[in-house]
Amino acid sequence: MYSKEIVKAICANHVYEYCIVSKDFEVLKYSEKASKYCDKVILMSDQINLFDLVPELVGMEDELSLIMVGDKEELIVPMVFKEPNYYVNITVHSNRTMDPLIVLFENVTDNTIAQYNLRQANNNNLLLLDEIAEKNKQLEMFNKEMQKLVDEEVAKNIETQHMMELQTRHAQMGEMIAMITHQWKQPLSVIQTLGTLLKIKFESGKLTQNIFKKKMNNLLQQTRHLSQTVNDFQQFFTPSKKKVDFDMNETITSVLNLVEMEYALENVHLSLVEVTPVSVYGYANEYNQVILSLLNNAKDALVDSGQAHKHIEIKIDMHDKRSLVSISDNAGGIPLEMIDNVFTQYVTSKKNGSGLGLYIAKTVIENNMQGKIWVKNTEEGACFSILL
Ligand SMILES: Nc1ncnc2c1ncn2[C@@H]1O[C@H](COP(=O)(O)OP(=O)(O)OP(=O)(O)O)[C@@H](O)[C@H]1O
Ligand SMILES: [Mg+2]
Repeated sequence: MYSKEIVKAICANHVYEYCIVSKDFEVLKYSEKASKYCDKVILMSDQINLFDLVPELVGMEDELSLIMVGDKEELIVPMVFKEPNYYVNITVHSNRTMDPLIVLFENVTDNTIAQYNLRQANNNNLLLLDEIAEKNKQLEMFNKEMQKLVDEEVAKNIETQHMMELQTRHAQMGEMIAMITHQWKQPLSVIQTLGTLLKIKFESGKLTQNIFKKKMNNLLQQTRHLSQTVNDFQQFFTPSKKKVDFDMNETITSVLNLVEMEYALENVHLSLVEVTPVSVYGYANEYNQVILSLLNNAKDALVDSGQAHKHIEIKIDMHDKRSLVSISDNAGGIPLEMIDNVFTQYVTSKKNGSGLGLYIAKTVIENNMQGKIWVKNTEEGACFSILL
């Protein structure tokens, strides 16, 4: 490129300032605003040496000489900082006219600052990435710690659950003992009565072989009932216990057979009415225990009432495709202040009552057999209903 053209380009594009240099490195001419990038005081002197004006070129005399003789195209010193806040690219070209060198100052401040900012932003990004990586590492550690805590808690929970299962089992066993005690009361008193009867008959010389055999059979039946009760309850509290199909009439009749004699002694009459034959799927033994409990309560209430014609009626029926068994008596009913609580544990009006009979009945029917049990007073007495 020739100096004139370069100068023209410089004038058209104010990004450049220049100075023209002789072969003795003396500055011959410079553009108006070269003072922006060069020492003003030096510029004002009569004779200006290139190396005083552009100290960045000191030590490059040989290369400059090569440019002068046309053996080197150009020399670039990039991004030189100039007071107060300029960045310039200094380029030295050969000048093919009489003055051998032209030094250009290209203002690259904006570019440099932009680049600097970009680099800074990149650095910041890198720092941010580092920070994120560090945070991720911390998070990972935190997660590991959390997992450890969760594992520990899970292990603790399993242990607690195990303990609770054990406690529940103990409570169930306690309940079972209470149930057995409850169920044993009746047969034990029947055995006692039979024993007394046999003793009286024997002592009065009225004990015939026939009476002895009959009472003895009855007594043995009671003892079988005692041991059956234990077996039934034991079975009931075994988790693998299976539900079976059972005929309602048959199962209730077996209960009535057990109590019939004892109730007869108390003048309590029993009647079983089967409106509809019903077969049920469930725990037959436990159902029997519930029926027995309701019968005993009715009998107790009847004995207590002093009612002349003591009567209990058991009715087997269907209701919405479900079995409905009701046990009603004519003992006057449950006192109104008690009726809402009779199924609650330990609620009793009896001197020796445990208040567990109805509570256990409700547990068996509603929790174990998903049925419903309720009571209401009729004109004559209480009526308990079981829907299965
Ligand atoms: N047919 C009934 N007529 C009147 N009151 C009744 C009748 N059935 C139950 N009750 C009342 O409900 C109470 C609770 O009965 P529940 O069978 O739960 O306990 P309990 O008979 O008192 O004692 P146990 O645990 O020995 O059975 C009874 O004490 C009695 O007051
Ligand atoms: Mg009872």
